Amino acid sequence: MTGPRQTKRFSADEAGIAAAAELLRAGKLVALPTETVYGLAADASDDRAVASIYAAKERPSFNPLISHLPDVEAARRQGLFDAPALALAKAFWPGPLTLVVPASNSCTVCSLARAGLDSVALRVPSHPVAHAVLQAAGRPIAAPSANRSGRVSPTQAEHVLVDLDGRIDAVLDAGPTAVGVESSIVACLGGAPRLLRPGGVPRAALEAAIGQALVIVEEGGTAPLAPGLLASHYAPRAAVRLDAEAPRPGEAWLGFGPEPDGGLPALAFNLSPSGDLTEAAANLFAAMRHLDDQRPATIAVAPIPMHGLGEAINDRLRRAAAPR
Ligand code: TXA
Ligand code: MG
Repeated sequence: MTGPRQTKRFSADEAGIAAAAELLRAGKLVALPTETVYGLAADASDDRAVASIYAAKERPSFNPLISHLPDVEAARRQGLFDAPALALAKAFWPGPLTLVVPASNSCTVCSLARAGLDSVALRVPSHPVAHAVLQAAGRPIAAPSANRSGRVSPTQAEHVLVDLDGRIDAVLDAGPTAVGVESSIVACLGGAPRLLRPGGVPRAALEAAIGQALVIVEEGGTAPLAPGLLASHYAPRAAVRLDAEAPRPGEAWLGFGPEPDGGLPALAFNLSPSGDLTEAAANLFAAMRHLDDQRPATIAVAPIPMHGLGEAINDRLRRAAAPR
């Protein structure tokens, strides 16, 4: 089903957007920019198109996918929103938030994209190019990050091509993404809302919008609510050593804020010399790819504070460091 394909490169202009939407309507695979990371997009209402996402990514097929919509009204046709879900949608859509809600009776997201669940993951992205494609496609668009399973998420069109050239029909290039980590995922399935994945909206901002604390879902429980949260989901080839005070001999260095005394290895990148967590999030995946491409045995990573987007950054780094 995913024999070799000629991967077209579209620029993010009117013609490129129209061509991308047309391919999606025909059941094809297109890598699209969003404000978080590039997504590997397909018609979420078409089981065959969704199956080809799993095949291109070599992703375990039990993972449900996020469906993307152009606006809140379109999202509300797919899912049932309780009061916290509505408050979150109002506060953060369009933007880097995904809501897992019960599927509505009129939900057109196919069961494969939902991995057979009776809930559905919905997101209204803020990227203007994503918005334009979604508008033109006129249907929910499933889009996991556009990387092969187990690789870090792509924040540039070139990263998409490294993993997926010849396996997808097109990539729509709108330059580097702004947020750099994936959307926050909140499940609103009755009862207290649960944070399934920290992401582009800081937890404190989410909690302020609903006026209550989010239940944090720890992975490894018996019922994996967000099965995409495999411990080693964001894996570079190198081993990763977290909370490092300084690089050891032979290690590559991923810094944050002021650099340690004693000099740095040739292979080093600072996520944000000024200690800005938003800048660090935007740089994270590209920096990990850049370092990992030189095949170091180990990447040592400076401590990253836990506030703001630091929670999402540390979550991705812990996964990158997980044994595999
Ligand atoms: O920023 C993002 O969210 C990016 C861009 C492309 O939009 N997309 C993304 O999608 O990260 P993906 O498929 O890589 O992440 C989907 C996550 C997985 O952890 C999955 O298990 C969870 O959402 N998920 C999807 N549907 C769910 C459901 N019904 N219940 C629980 N978790 C669900
Ligand atoms: Mg991913």
